[in-house]
Amino acid sequence: MPEVQLDLLGGLRRTHTCGELRASDAGKPALLMGWVHRRRDLGGLIFIHLRDRDGITQLVLDESRNPETHRRAQDLSSEFVIAAEGTVSLRSAETVNTSLATGAIEVAVSRIWILNESRTPPFPLEGSGDVKEDVRLKYRYIDLRRPRMQRNIIMRSKISLAIRQALFEQGFLEIETPFMTRSTPEGARDYLVPSRVQPGNFYALPQSPQLFKQLLMVSGYDRYFQIVRCFRDEDMRADRQAEFTQIDLEMSFPQQEQIYEVIQPLIRKVCEAAGKPAAKEIPRMTYAEAMRSYGSDKPDLRIPPFHCVEDLFTGTSLTTNGLPLVAIHIPKTGQLSRKERDEIKALGQERGLRIYDDLKRLERDFPEPVTRLRGRINQAEDDLLVLAAWAGEEKGALPEQTALQACGQLRLSIAQKYNDRHKLLDPEVFKFLWVTDFPMFEWDEEQKRWNAAHHPFTSVHDEDLEKLTSDPAHCRAKSYDLVLNGVELGSGSIRIHRRDLQTKVFRALGFSEEEARQRFGFLLEALEYGAPPHGGIALGLDRLVMILAGEQSIREVIPFPKTAKGTDLMCDAPSPVPDRQLRELGLRLSKPQ
Ligand code: AMO
Repeated sequence: MPEVQLDLLGGLRRTHTCGELRASDAGKPALLMGWVHRRRDLGGLIFIHLRDRDGITQLVLDESRNPETHRRAQDLSSEFVIAAEGTVSLRSAETVNTSLATGAIEVAVSRIWILNESRTPPFPLEGSGDVKEDVRLKYRYIDLRRPRMQRNIIMRSKISLAIRQALFEQGFLEIETPFMTRSTPEGARDYLVPSRVQPGNFYALPQSPQLFKQLLMVSGYDRYFQIVRCFRDEDMRADRQAEFTQIDLEMSFPQQEQIYEVIQPLIRKVCEAAGKPAAKEIPRMTYAEAMRSYGSDKPDLRIPPFHCVEDLFTGTSLTTNGLPLVAIHIPKTGQLSRKERDEIKALGQERGLRIYDDLKRLERDFPEPVTRLRGRINQAEDDLLVLAAWAGEEKGALPEQTALQACGQLRLSIAQKYNDRHKLLDPEVFKFLWVTDFPMFEWDEEQKRWNAAHHPFTSVHDEDLEKLTSDPAHCRAKSYDLVLNGVELGSGSIRIHRRDLQTKVFRALGFSEEEARQRFGFLLEALEYGAPPHGGIALGLDRLVMILAGEQSIREVIPFPKTAKGTDLMCDAPSPVPDRQLRELGLRLSKPQ
């Protein structure tokens, strides 16, 4: 880098940000600071776009007026940090820049200070050119200067503020819970932190503040919330990070309805803060309905539901296995070619489904059922309508569910495949949905045991209490998910607040008395000291911002995310530690396998 004489900040104070000045400021003195975004050298005149996170202001350096300042401006390159002092002046009508908020003015500069220089950035800050993600993550501090990232991070901050406002308005208290704690049961692996003063013992980072928020209810801090980091050692995906943020809340004495009443205005405020339309009322659907109509517990309501039509075809070769026959109807795909129809068949086959795509032929074989099918489904000329039936060998423990899920996945894949034609999956449409009454337990085929579908502190429906041990498959939980455009945004439940019921559920989950006491003894004990009925929910902040920002990955809305392998490419973490540090912690590494 050529030698550039740098100036000290000294006592300089900026008067305005780079997004602030307007025509009404003409004639005023101004001292701006920021990054050189662009420099145009027209000989006697140098134009600089000076940038900070608030915007861009044009500076003009005129050789005839301030030759020394003009000379110094010749040293400037992209991303240099400067201060510029001058006078705000109106631009002539033909040079007004309507794409800048400050485009009516420019600053005629009398003096500049070069506060720092910059190497040439590893990628351009402007334009939509594809920059490899690993380069972006290595130089994240530069990537974060780009307009897309600035928009996302600023939107995230506004959303966090809206959440706090919505919850404070409804009487919630913001209370912190520990990061160095015991294992919390959310189903993932824990991140462990070794204790130096108690060698051989470990803290676990919380997978969620679940137990602490329940204990806060026992302590009487009704209406708790926290925007809180959670840690889960699980495989990362576009919507999963090892550390992520939850909007976590808990209430005492709530009906399920009251949880919805808290979340509805919160979502409205969040959408307003993000500048997006918000639904007046979030619709609801039970888990059973969601499975029967969408083959998913997180239906994307932007695509119409499918229809179970086995009743129309009873006694035919289409319904021999007693499993659902599903009509998948996707509007406006246009007439599909033979090749495209074969592709859909292949997509179905991959999921264990047999596809009937030729309705005319079906009509010849089964005239009456197909007429009734057409009566039930309003198919237009350019809509796609295919029938799907389970053809797989493996049916799993819950065959009907397996078949419906496969149909749900096929419905989504078809909709995604032809989205450029029907434009159903519009990222500017936001379809929120409550899914309620989840099953209490999920069968774990590998371990041959029941697991809690939500977590083991979830209440069972009052009328299903008796089935806890006799018929766990049909126990419904007092649990609910908030879904947005097919993504699980949040989960919650009414909790168990009585020790006897908690013990019963632990037993149904196959925990021995001893195991339950060892893992959750403090909770069981707390339930014996006047625990009130309570319930709550946690929403994923990263997922919420991702969808509202129109992004496909939560990495785009997290300032410093990790790669799919859990690496922080900028800091190069995780990293080995010196032997001395391991010894202090009482640890010794075995040779890598
Ligand atoms: P749950 O485990 O369903 O519930 O998590 C709640 C929400 O947190 C988000 N989320 C994630 N986001 C990004 N990366 C991850 N790895 C990740 N894991 C979860 C999702 C999810 O819906 N304690 C309960 C809540 C309660 O019962 O109140 C819990 O944590 O958006």
